[in-house]
This record gives sequence, C-alpha cells and structure tokens, in this order.
Amino acid sequence: MARNVGRKLVVDVHTHLYPQAYIDLLAQRTEVPFVRRWEPTGQFYLCNRTPQNSNGRGSNLSPSRPPGRILDAHYHQISEKISFMDHHQIDISVLSLGNPWLDFVDEDKAEDFAMVINNATNEICGQHPGRLFFFGALPLTAAESIIIGEIERLKTLQLCRGIVMGTEGLGAGLDDPRLLPIYTALAEASLPIFLHPGYGLPGSVWGPKGSEYGQVLPLSLGFPMESTIALTRLYLSGVFDKVPELQIIVAHSGGCLPFLAGRLEACIEHDRKWDDDGKLTSDRSTLWNALRNNIYLDGVIFDKVGLRAAIEASGVDRVMFGTDHPFFAPLGGEKTFPAMTVNRDAVRDVFPEDDEGYDLVMGENAVRVLGLQAGISDS
Ligand code: URA
Ligand code: ZN
Repeated sequence: MARNVGRKLVVDVHTHLYPQAYIDLLAQRTEVPFVRRWEPTGQFYLCNRTPQNSNGRGSNLSPSRPPGRILDAHYHQISEKISFMDHHQIDISVLSLGNPWLDFVDEDKAEDFAMVINNATNEICGQHPGRLFFFGALPLTAAESIIIGEIERLKTLQLCRGIVMGTEGLGAGLDDPRLLPIYTALAEASLPIFLHPGYGLPGSVWGPKGSEYGQVLPLSLGFPMESTIALTRLYLSGVFDKVPELQIIVAHSGGCLPFLAGRLEACIEHDRKWDDDGKLTSDRSTLWNALRNNIYLDGVIFDKVGLRAAIEASGVDRVMFGTDHPFFAPLGGEKTFPAMTVNRDAVRDVFPEDDEGYDLVMGENAVRVLGLQAGISDS
C-alpha cells in the first residue's frame, strides 16, 4: 500500500487475530472453549463460555446459526486484517489474541501452546514489515517459572510489544499476590499488559429479561465493568507501589474507571479500615497517580463524552486509538466498519481544531509508547 503523503500515522492498538495455530488448538478440544466447522457454511465457530445472558445461553442459539461466535475470515486471515487496514487507512496494527486467550489450556500444555501461538503471530507480523506488531499471550495456567520464561522469550521476538491478559490472571483476579513476580518480569522486560475483559459479569445481573436484549448488556456494560473491577482491585492491592514500572493499557478506555476514579478516591479517603491500617498517608499514591503513570487507555469508547473522560483522566499522551476489529462488524456486511469511523470521529470531536491532540491519540502515542517503527513498506 502506498503511504499517504502528509497524513500522520494511524495506529490501531486494539485489534484481534485468532491465528490458524490457535484455531487448530481449539479444534482439538471437546469441551468449551472449542472451535468447530459449521457444515452448512464451512465457517469456523468458536464456542466460548462468555459473555452469556441471564438464562445461561449465548445469543446465537437458532437452527440457522451455530452455538457460538462465527469466526469469519476477518478473525483469522491476515489478508482480511490488511485489507481492513487499507480500507480504513490504518497504517499499523498491534494484534492481540481474542478471548479466551490461553486461560483454559491444561497446565502441562500451556508452555508449548504459548510458544506456538506467539511464534506464529510474530511470523504473521513479519510478513507485513512495518505494519504489524503484536501483544503476546502468556501461558498463565503453567508454573511461574514457565510464565516468566515466556515473558523473557517474548522480549526476544522481534515484533512483540507487550502481552494481552484477561481479568482472571492466574484464576484469582489481578490483585492475586502470586502475580507479583509476573508483573515484575513484565516491567523489567518493558512489556506492557494489554488488559482486556472476556468473562463479563454473572448472568444473574442482567435479570430474567436479559436475553431479550441480545448481547447488548454483557458487551456494553459487563465487559467494561469487568475491566473496571479488575483494575481497581489491582490498584487497591498496591501493585503499582510494589512494581512502579508496570504499564497497563486498558481496553475500552478503561471501562468506567475514568468516570469513577473520583468516587473511588473518596471511598478510600473515608474508609475506616484504610485509616486503621495506616494506609491514608499524605504521600499515598492515588488512583489519579496510577492513571497518569501506569495506565494507558485505548480509545474504543465510540463517543466524545467517554473519550474526553479517558483523556482527562490519563492525559492526552496516554490514550491510543483502537477499533476492536473484527468485533463490531457491520450487520449488513458493509466494508466500512463504524467501529473505525465512529471511534476516529470521536477523536476529531474531542480535538476539533487541535491536530496535535488528534495525531497523538490516533497514532503518535502508540508509536512512542510501543516503539513501533514509523514508515510502511509497500505490500
Ligand atoms: N470484543 C472482544 O474483544 N471480544 C468479544 O467477545 C466481544 C467484543
Ligand atoms: Zn477487544
């Protein structure tokens, strides 16, 4: 693709790919999550365990659809990713595996699977020099030494720029002290975490009518609340005091965190237990400090109101554009994804006359923070 002269780089930091190696891994499984071919169409579908409606079923239970998410070519073929990028004038994408990542893999297989998936993704990125980078997947069900070994190995993979992680961590959430050595290894390797939700909230939250609204409640509210709670727990446990160099890029503009940070701070300041524990010192590192020093937010929030909150909370130099491709595909099969154009227009709405702010969020922050080589070779 010829580079647009005079246009600043557009970088997508939130864009998923399920490499063929991952699909093959899930196709061998008999339990959820698994991948099968849907015979009538020959398409793959992913049967995952979340998000679900209150009746415990996904939204796709009809005879004309498989019981899960159809993984069309956009989900697994890099040629589709590249044509999506070309069509939407995205110069660079930082790929991440989608949920459920490697969270389900048996302990004894996790190391090999992580290596296979990460090597495959590195290789795919290498086929499009300058245009593709990736966040690696960690073998979180394996022993600590294996997880740390993979972090050290990822550091040596040419196109890896961080790791993608769900909110369960090793199974007990992100405030789990067993994660501290992992956080430390990531910080030492200068690999940020791309924190992404995948489990949603318990189905009961959506009430008996939840399924009548399709996937709207779990995806619009469940995912962002999941991230908000996970990250808040991480902050409250003091992870950023213990590992001050840790950097986390939070999906969906940090969920509700930018909006709720003030209230969270007020709750901390008024909490008897925090006072009794001697934690309300004047030099306490606040959530605002964490937002400005340890947390980056993506721009996948679809409106200027949420995006403004994200920028206000973390700073204009800490918010990075994303699309969540191939999720949010247009229902009519159109080539243009509103998940690109609406999120881009929200950035312009926030910076109607400020090209510097616009360029930072649309690409320059990602290039600087993730060390993405500028420039695109023709492909
Ligand atoms: N976005 C994702 O990344 N995963 C989903 O399952 C849905 C939306
Ligand atoms: Zn996503």
